[in-house]
Amino acid sequence: MKFKKTEETLRKGAHTLEREYYTNSEILQKEYDNIFLNSWICAGRSTELSKSGEYKIVNLGTESAIILRDSKGLLKAHANVCRHRGTRICEKSKGTFSKSIQCGYHGWTYNLNGDLIGAPHMDSVDGFNNRDYPLHSISIEEWEGFIFINFDNKPVNFNEYFSPIIKKFTNWNIADLIPIETKSYNVAGNWKLVIQNYCECYHCPVLHPELAAITPYLGGENDLYSGPFLGGYMNFSKNKKSVTKSGELCCPPLSNLKKENIDKVYYYSIAPNMLISLHPEYVMYHTVWPDGVNKCRVDCSWLFEKNIINSNDYNLLDAVNFWDMTNKQDWHISELSQLGIQSKKYSPAPYSRQESLLAAFDDYYKKSLK
Ligand code: FES
Ligand SMILES: [Fe+2]
Repeated sequence: MKFKKTEETLRKGAHTLEREYYTNSEILQKEYDNIFLNSWICAGRSTELSKSGEYKIVNLGTESAIILRDSKGLLKAHANVCRHRGTRICEKSKGTFSKSIQCGYHGWTYNLNGDLIGAPHMDSVDGFNNRDYPLHSISIEEWEGFIFINFDNKPVNFNEYFSPIIKKFTNWNIADLIPIETKSYNVAGNWKLVIQNYCECYHCPVLHPELAAITPYLGGENDLYSGPFLGGYMNFSKNKKSVTKSGELCCPPLSNLKKENIDKVYYYSIAPNMLISLHPEYVMYHTVWPDGVNKCRVDCSWLFEKNIINSNDYNLLDAVNFWDMTNKQDWHISELSQLGIQSKKYSPAPYSRQESLLAAFDDYYKKSLK
């Protein structure tokens, strides 16, 4: 969220984006080609796949990835496209393969590494060799327990690209956290409206009086304010200790958190599809998935320490329910924004100082879109 940091400036003349960025399907296609399909995309948590053969499917525009644990237990991603006649192999969003992956059309069969191990009748084809037809592999990385995939054939190096934040969240021990709840929301608004909404708290006093009472909207500072990673922290009001319905911590703070992290909540957007919110006792993250120019899906998960969840001693829903309410307020206003922006009466207007991160996001976005 947004505010006065001496080095942080609002670009002069920064305006909201033109209408076409929220309505034009050719621009959406460019977003897929130049942003989503050549960026590192957060695809959930590695704990979703615990055993060999377990898989989940991630669909993004025309593309689909099978993310799985191979026979050695390593995370792999393969294109969900049969090498025979291109058929999409897996339809279910998740499941477990026994030891192989079989296309439902003519039965070409692949092992968990993606190697073709069975292709009925193809031995009659001169020079046919299974070795030449593995599933196309998709780059995959794990960071802080999050899975990232990149559909590009030569993706930018993950560690280099993520270097500004790669060690930033170590105090939260996120790799050891597990979700207590994941909610999926369908939002009738362009995906960028969700990101832009997240990047400012200018709207908090009006739209989220409950949240504004916990973290005053002018109390905080940004420490990442250009490029693909944006955000900073907000302070709690006096007598408030976390973002929960009660305003109290819903369980003890995360074990390794430093004292200076405990009285703040940190919000970062990780372009193009991830939002991460670090609280003293839990971490919430969103992933955003475009679905046409005027729709998207948002998945939201709340991560806690395993022993806290297992103890059953705490009302962790205090956090989940508060943010579920706030999420719905945000999605609803984003839907109203979509409707207004679609009007021919809409025209871009200046961003305020409180919206400097939106101007920064738009700069990153336009540069990436080319
Ligand atoms: S298309 Fe997959 S086996 Fe024929
Ligand atoms: Fe909001």
